[in-house]
Amino acid sequence: MTIQLGETAPDFTAETTEGRLNFYEYLGDHWGVLFSHPADFTPVCTTELGAFANRKDEFTSRNTRIIGVSVDSVESHKKWSVDIAETQGRGLNYPLVGDEDRTVANLYGMIHPKALETATVRTVFIIGPDKKVKLTLTYPASVGRNIDEILRVLDALQLTTGYSISTPVDWKQGGEVIISPAISDEDAKTKFPKGFRTLKPYLRLTPQPDA
Ligand code: BEZ
Repeated sequence: MTIQLGETAPDFTAETTEGRLNFYEYLGDHWGVLFSHPADFTPVCTTELGAFANRKDEFTSRNTRIIGVSVDSVESHKKWSVDIAETQGRGLNYPLVGDEDRTVANLYGMIHPKALETATVRTVFIIGPDKKVKLTLTYPASVGRNIDEILRVLDALQLTTGYSISTPVDWKQGGEVIISPAISDEDAKTKFPKGFRTLKPYLRLTPQPDA
C-alpha cells in the first residue's frame, strides 16, 4: 500500500531498541520523522543512522521526534549500534523498530519488491502534529539521504502551515517566501508589513515573516 500526502499516518505498536512503543504515544503532540533503511550492518545505512543520531538535537529543537524501521531484529539493531558509534561517533539515541514480521513496513508501503525483494527501501515520512502525512521520500539502496533536506522541509512545513505563504525552490531559513495568489495585494500589504515584490501577479515574494 502506498501512503499518500494528507492521509492519516497509520498507528502501530512495535518492539524497538527503546522497548515496546506505541507510535502515536511516542509522537504525542510533536512532529514526527519515520524512516526506514534496508538492512543493519550495511555501509550506506551505517552512515545514515549515525547522521540521524548525531543530528537528533536539530530535530528536537524543531519539536520533532525521530524513529527508524527495518526488518532486522531489535537484537541486531543493538549490536549494529556499537558499529555506528565506532564509525560515526554516536550510536542509536532514538528508537529503531525491529520489524521482523514487516507489520510497519507493510502499513507504510516501505517494501518495493522490484527494487529490494524483502527489505525496506530508504523511505522518509514527515508527520504533522495532526498525524497527517506531510512529506514522503523514497531513495534507492545505493543513495544515502540528506539530513539537511529533511530539516529544510521540516522548517518549510512549520513556517507555512496555517500561513498564506509557500517556499520557493531551494528555500532556506531566512530566505524570501511566496505570498499565496489567493491573497489580494491590499491584504498582502497588511499581512506582510516587511513589504513584497511582484514578479508576476501570481508570483510575489516577501521576506520570511518570522526571520
Ligand atoms: C547499504 O546501506 O549500503 C546498502 C543496503 C542494502 C542494499 C545495498 C546497500
